[in-house]
Formats: sequence, structure tokens, C-alpha cells
Amino acid sequence: MIDQQFETRAIRTQMVRTARREHASALYLTSSFTFESAEQGADIFKGNIDANLYSRFSNPNTDEFIRKLCSLEQCQSGVATASGMAAVYLCFAALLKQGDHVVASSAIFGNSRYILTNILPNMGVSHSFVEVSDNHSWEQAIQKNTKMLFLETPSNPTLKTADLEFIGKLAKSHELIYAVDNCFATPYLQRPAEYGAHLVLHSATKYIDGQGRVLGGAIVGEEHWVSQCYDFLRRTGSSLSPFNAWILSKSIETLAIRMDRHCSNASKLAGFLNGHQEIEKVIYPHDENYEQYDLAKKQMSQGGGLVGCIIKGGAERGARFLNALNMFSLTANLGDTRSIATHPASTTHSKMTPEEQLLVDITPGFLRFSVGLEHIDDILTDIDQALKLSK
Ligand SMILES: Cc1ncc(COP(=O)(O)O)c(C=O)c1O
Repeated sequence: MIDQQFETRAIRTQMVRTARREHASALYLTSSFTFESAEQGADIFKGNIDANLYSRFSNPNTDEFIRKLCSLEQCQSGVATASGMAAVYLCFAALLKQGDHVVASSAIFGNSRYILTNILPNMGVSHSFVEVSDNHSWEQAIQKNTKMLFLETPSNPTLKTADLEFIGKLAKSHELIYAVDNCFATPYLQRPAEYGAHLVLHSATKYIDGQGRVLGGAIVGEEHWVSQCYDFLRRTGSSLSPFNAWILSKSIETLAIRMDRHCSNASKLAGFLNGHQEIEKVIYPHDENYEQYDLAKKQMSQGGGLVGCIIKGGAERGARFLNALNMFSLTANLGDTRSIATHPASTTHSKMTPEEQLLVDITPGFLRFSVGLEHIDDILTDIDQALKLSK
């Protein structure tokens, strides 16, 4: 399958057809699978026969979804989870033990940060946060008991870029588990395993579904680490539902074509905001003014579907701007066909103190746009009128 192109693998990785000759994959909404005999049941339980047993840990729909994602991320193995957060927690809980230490970038999704600061310490796992773009700080933060390096790139919400290759080499030389949340870029734009990541995490709720319908998540990567995550999930049950797996597998068929349009719309919006007198700063990885432009160009084939900006007038102006939008949705999701505007300081990252927010560049006037698939003229018109109205 690997010789085929990305788009083809996204469409043609499919479970075996049933005798009913369906074209789209069948949906296996069943909690368990039957045994033809007591002996067969015993063999399946022992692992002598590789067959579906119970949908908490094996189901044809989750299997198809994971095989497809593995093929796109160029990874050996994977496990599907109920949500992106289930994947993040699973990766920590399955692979870390009391006394271990994680080095993580400070610019990560608020709930991933919460797990590191509020949940893992109760299990005796400590962490250090580092500035994602500062290679030196990654190296310096490694301690004797460090077990894992964890990051997002581009990061949520300020779109900072981590040097995947450098951190991959660091992980290799210190024998650390290298885990990358690839939710914002998707495998269509960036494949962290090519830079040495052992585990690639996803909130499939975002671009993989791409239509704001279902929650889902995944960890794909090296068999050695994924199998430990799988064993943990099998017992603890943060599994993806077969129905959601069916939706997500079908969604991946259009990932490439959707990402192309997300990126082209986002790039045009970034260009528009760049010249706008009401905007202090624009953050878009493939924009020439982006601080890590060369790195982003090297790692990502396109700039992604998210655009950040700082509006003049701070938080109050930001709120007025959001209220003035006609078409953009005000909601906490991203990666949808529908364009979404978010004010991270008061929503997704509101659990952080203002000082913590500033440390990761979430200023009061920072806005994040998840640029959808509507016509670009309508996207720009809505932003333009809201900027004027909110003055
Ligand atoms: C980068 C990143 N990782 C993980 C998550 C969590 O995903 P979910 O909402 O599917 O649990 C999110 C959600 O916004 C995210 O942005």
C-alpha cells in the first residue's frame, strides 16, 4: 500500500468486503463477536487466533481507521481512542511510572497541560515545561529520570513550531520516548515519524473528521510503544466507538482535498490580515513574517488551516469583534468545514493564570481562526465588516 499516493491510501485502505458486496465499508455496531465453538473462543482469548473479540479493543471499523492512519503517518501500529484527550492521557498513563519526568513544550492544548500539572503529579510523575521553539531549552531540561519528550507543532493556540528533527535526535541520543501531537498539521502536511517521533497523537475530532460531528482520537507509532498503550486501553476502556470509527475512516477519504482548501483559505486570510490597520500581528506558519518561517516550510508542506492574530484594543476589542461576526461560528472546536473564531484567553486556555498565558504568548487580544471551507470572499467579508464594526 505504501507505494500508492497519500490520497489513494486515504481512500482505498478498506476492510474486507462482506458477501453482500457493499462499496462503502460495512458498519459493525456490535459490542462483542461470537465464537464458532468453545475451542475457538479459548484460542481467540489466548491470542492463538487473531480475531475480533470485544469492541472495547477490537472491531473492524476501528481497525480500518487505525490501519489507514498508520499508512498516512507512515507508522507501524496504532490504537484508536474515544477522543484526543483520551489519546494524550493514554500515552502518559500507559508509558510513565512513578518517579518519571516529562519534558513538554509550554505551548500545548490547555487540557494536555492540565494532565501534566494536575493529574500526573498525583501519580508521582513530574514535568518541566520548555519554550517549544528553543532547542537549547529542550536539551537543558532533560534530567536523569526524564522518560518522554512531548509537544504539539504547530502548537495550540499560538501556532509555534517545534524543530521536529532536532528534538528527534535529542530523544534518540538520550533514549527518550518522543511523542508528538500532530492534530493541527495532520499527516497530509507533516509526518513526525519521519523525524524520529515514536508516537504520533491525534484529536481526530478536528481535521480528521473535519465536519464537526464526532469525537475521536488515536496514537500511532512504533509497535513497541503502541502495544503498551493498546494493553492499557484494553483494560481501562477509553475506546473509540465503532460508529465514530466508521465516520472518521470515511472522513479521511477527503482529508487531502479538504486540507488543500483549508490551507489556501487560511493563507489568503493571513495575507488580508497582514495588511490590515486594526491588526497588530499575524501568525501563520507559511507567512514570510512568521518567526520560524524556514522551519515551518521545511516541516509542513503547507501552512495549515489555522491563523492567529492580535487585534488592536486587547480583550474588550476582541470580544466586540467576536460579537460583530456574522458568519464565523463562535465555538471551541477547530478543523471544521465552518470557519470558527476563538478567544483562547477566555475559553480554551482560561484555566491558565494571566501570567501563564503571557508566558506562552496568549495575550488578551490574541484571536485564533480555524479557517473553514466557505468561499474565501465570504470569509474575508465577514472578518472585514467585524473589524470595522468593533472599532
Ligand atoms: C492539539 C490538541 N490536542 C488534543 C486535543 C483534544 O482533543 P479532543 O477534543 O478530541 O479530546 C485538542 C482539542 O482541541 C487539541 O487542539
